[in-house]
Order: sequence, then structure tokens, then C-alpha cells
Amino acid sequence: MRIVLIGPPASGKGTQAGALTQRLSIPKISTGDMLRVARTAGTSLGKAAESYMNSGKLVPDSVVIGLVEARILLPDAQAGFVLDGFPRTVPQAEALQSLLGRTGSPLDVVVLIDVARELLVERATLRRMDRQTGQIYHLKYNPPPAGAEVIHREDDREETVKKRLDEYDTMTAALLPFYSALGLLRRIEGEGAPSLVTDRMMVAIGK
Ligand code: AP5
Repeated sequence: MRIVLIGPPASGKGTQAGALTQRLSIPKISTGDMLRVARTAGTSLGKAAESYMNSGKLVPDSVVIGLVEARILLPDAQAGFVLDGFPRTVPQAEALQSLLGRTGSPLDVVVLIDVARELLVERATLRRMDRQTGQIYHLKYNPPPAGAEVIHREDDREETVKKRLDEYDTMTAALLPFYSALGLLRRIEGEGAPSLVTDRMMVAIGK
């Protein structure tokens, strides 16, 4: 299956993409993860993206579109994928439609994860990630095991989270009418235990 997950920052896209990867045996393609790897490695792409990411702004379309196009064409994505954090603007969605049209492999479904804004700030500021594996934890809802080496994302400081939420409202919410018009959009409630959200997700994607 070819699945896109949309949702505001910290709505659970990465958590649910991880669950879908395990259940459906398809790769998770996260532009946030790819950009963070590039930033840590100090590549020219990572350097170009860094100031946008640290200030809670979207990285320019030209940078992320090329990154995703190259990733989707790799062999492991031929049987399907879960896109987490891409597309985020209408030009990105148009570029994805165009690429998948050319390869004859259209999207099956786009799932919006709906979470109230008040909860999102708490989810982001208390998020921690395993430095080695990228496993996502939450200090209150899903604490990391003792001894795990975790990192606190630079853009998970409260002020930056609020800017990311504003950026979502301004730029990414425009994707909803785009995918609704294509008949691909499903909406699920993202509150409740992660396993409960995964159950809703499986229903939404018809599995
Ligand atoms: P990105 O990494 O994609 O950030 P995001 O969209 O803001 O999403 P998050 O990673 O913050 O959250 P999530 O929805 O994955 O939630 P998670 O599962 O971790 O992007 C970062 C930056 O990169 C952007 O700001 C931008 O600069 C740039 N960028 C990336 N893609 C781009 C693009 N396409 N175009 C332009 N720029 C781009 O969960 C959050 C927390 O909540 C965790 O602690 C988790 O344990 C917890 N949690 C999850 N589910 C539940 C639940 N059901 N109940 C309780 N807690 C839960």
C-alpha cells in the first residue's frame, strides 16, 4: 500500500508510521528523519535545512521534493510505503502525484490524524528519541527504558513547537481539500492510547 499520513506536529505520525511499517512490512519514509540525518552529517542539504528546522519553518519545497523522489524510487519502496511528514504543501502534493503518475503507482489513502492543539504542545515538549534507533518515547505516556540514551529535539522547545503549529495551520492544512477532492482523505481521532489509534488507522486504510 502507498499511504500518506498528515497531521499537526506531534500528532503521532511517526508513532503510527512505525506501527504500520511493522504490520504491513513496508518502509516508513519520514522527511523529518531524513533532514535530521542530513543535518547531523553536515551535508550541504542538511546545512540548507538547518535554520528552517530550528526556527520551526518548513524547508523549501525544492529541497524536500528531490529528497523524497529519490527515496521513493529505491527498490524497498516498490511494494509500498508510509509517508510521514510529506507532503506538507500543495506544490509537494502535486509533485508526488506527478511522480506516482509517471511510475503508475498511485496513492491508496491519505490519513489525517486529528489531535486537539492543547495536547500537541505537551506531546512535543516531553518527547524523547533514542539516539541510536530513533525510537520515539514520551516522558509521561511512554517513558524510555532505564539506561536508554535519548535526545530532546531542538525544535521541541515550547516556543518553536508553537511556531510549527502555526506553520501547519498556514501551509499544511491546505492539503486537506486537495486530497479530499481526489477522494483519498480519511480522518481519524488521534487521542487515546497509541494502540487504539493504530486500530483506527487499520480501519481507515481498509485493513
Ligand atoms: P517532522 O519531524 O516531520 O516533525 P512534525 O511534522 O512536526 O512531526 P513530529 O515529528 O513533531 O511529530 P509526529 O506527528 O511524528 O508525532 P510522534 O509520533 O513523534 O519535521 C520536522 C521539521 O523538518 C519541520 O518543522 C520542517 O522544518 C522540516 N520538514 C520535514 N518535512 C518537511 C516537508 N515535507 N516540507 C518542508 N519541511 C519539512 O509523537 C509525538 C509525541 O507524542 C511522542 O513523544 C510520542 O511518544 C507521543 N505520542 C504519540 N502518539 C500518542 C498517543 N496516542 N498518546 C499519547 N502520546 C502519544
